[in-house]
Amino acid sequence: MTVKIGLLGFGTVASGVPFLLRENAGKIKQAAQDDIEIAKVLVRDEAEKSRLLAEGHVYNFVTDIDEIILDEEIAIVVELMGRIEPAKTFITRALQAKKHVVTANKDLLAVHGSELRTIAKENGVALYYEAAVAGGIPILRTLANSFASDKITRIMGVLNGTSNFMMTKMVDEGWTYEKALKTAQELGYAESDPTNDVEGIDAAYKAVILSQFAFGMTIDFEHVRHKGISGITPEDVAVAQELGYVIKLVGDIQETPSGISAEVSPTFLPKAHPLASVNGVMNAVFVESIGIGESMFYGPGAGQKPTAASVTADIIRIVRRLKDNTIGKDFNEFSRPLQLATAEDVRSDYYFSILTPDVQGKMLRLAEIFNAQAISFKQILQRPTDEKEARLVIVTHSMSKTQLEHVTKQLEESQEFQVSNIFKVLGD
Ligand SMILES: NC(=O)c1ccc[n+]([C@@H]2O[C@H](COP(=O)([O-])OP(=O)(O)OC[C@H]3O[C@@H](n4cnc5c(N)ncnc54)[C@H](OP(=O)(O)O)[C@@H]3O)[C@@H](O)[C@H]2O)c1
Repeated sequence: MTVKIGLLGFGTVASGVPFLLRENAGKIKQAAQDDIEIAKVLVRDEAEKSRLLAEGHVYNFVTDIDEIILDEEIAIVVELMGRIEPAKTFITRALQAKKHVVTANKDLLAVHGSELRTIAKENGVALYYEAAVAGGIPILRTLANSFASDKITRIMGVLNGTSNFMMTKMVDEGWTYEKALKTAQELGYAESDPTNDVEGIDAAYKAVILSQFAFGMTIDFEHVRHKGISGITPEDVAVAQELGYVIKLVGDIQETPSGISAEVSPTFLPKAHPLASVNGVMNAVFVESIGIGESMFYGPGAGQKPTAASVTADIIRIVRRLKDNTIGKDFNEFSRPLQLATAEDVRSDYYFSILTPDVQGKMLRLAEIFNAQAISFKQILQRPTDEKEARLVIVTHSMSKTQLEHVTKQLEESQEFQVSNIFKVLGD
């Protein structure tokens, strides 16, 4: 039998799918046990269709979504257009038409995933999205299947290749944020509007999806605190190195006694931590669990072939499930009621970079403010910035989000200190 596919969009990732179906046909046939055919490809308009045909692409390009939704021979719709609309409407219609859906659209899944999963379930069809987190790293199915017996306590990840490329240049070559961004844009890693990548939004989308697979809880995007890399200064980078750390944008989801906490933020990683050596556009997901212990999954987070490999694996899985008559199961069957951690239970060490007039007694005064919140210091540095001002750098021992909030407020109200930056520090 031949299973027919409708591709929505023919951009970077979508055009990588035919490559794998062709180049790895023998193995794919064994795994899927049926033939897979790209029957129709939705493109934006007639001009796009003519351009692709002129380039030698031999697909049946269509410009009307109904040609795919109403085609009863098409069993699987593969959405690779990106953005929320019209992708959401097209996926909804495909699921309601009892078509299985594969997508890599993390933005859509992070915000409307629950709704789409419910529609898939009601219609007894599959909705798979392995490529939505860390593109080429097969992490979601690994969490759903290989960690089935294990209890995950924490997941940390370098989840955004663009910001990681920029941070690597800022750390290794001393580039400013502005120079790193400009180069990332020139190399095609960052879009002209880089907000989602550099402000931690893209990584927060991925944290929402990871929390479902690792902890069985569906957190809302709004529950993921996120802070990006745009405020990191060369001074922060230099001090981090001096103190034995590397700064990276890290997604961190953990289970505390009161519930789960999810956050994306610039984080000081000890140089020996496995995530500290994840450089350039590469991604990694670091898992802590009671059975396996510590494990790390490393690979390309984006790119045509890596992402298409994950998409194609989802397609093969569906074709095989159709053959075995086991289709319709959730991609992830682990589900518990959502319980969010209280601020008292979310703890970390922190780095404070504080500017103050360079006069005697300031360090003592600072110690009093931290001491009043029962926060102790692990490392302290003082650096003159000019004749009149000094930078005080403090790495604290573990404190809760509540303590962090109180001490930050105290510092801001003191009028003696100007908080330049506060970042999380991963303890040794
Ligand atoms: N690129 C990666 O490495 C990567 C990694 C992980 C996940 N993803 C996800 O994969 C998806 C696709 O990404 P991509 O990089 O392949 O994007 P892309 O290169 O921009 O391709 C998207 C294609 O879809 C077309 N399209 C958009 N709206 C359409 C519509 N209404 N009708 C028909 N065609 C439409 C676009 O046409 P126009 O050019 O005319 O807009 C474009 O050709 C996104 O959800 C992305 O987040 C990508």
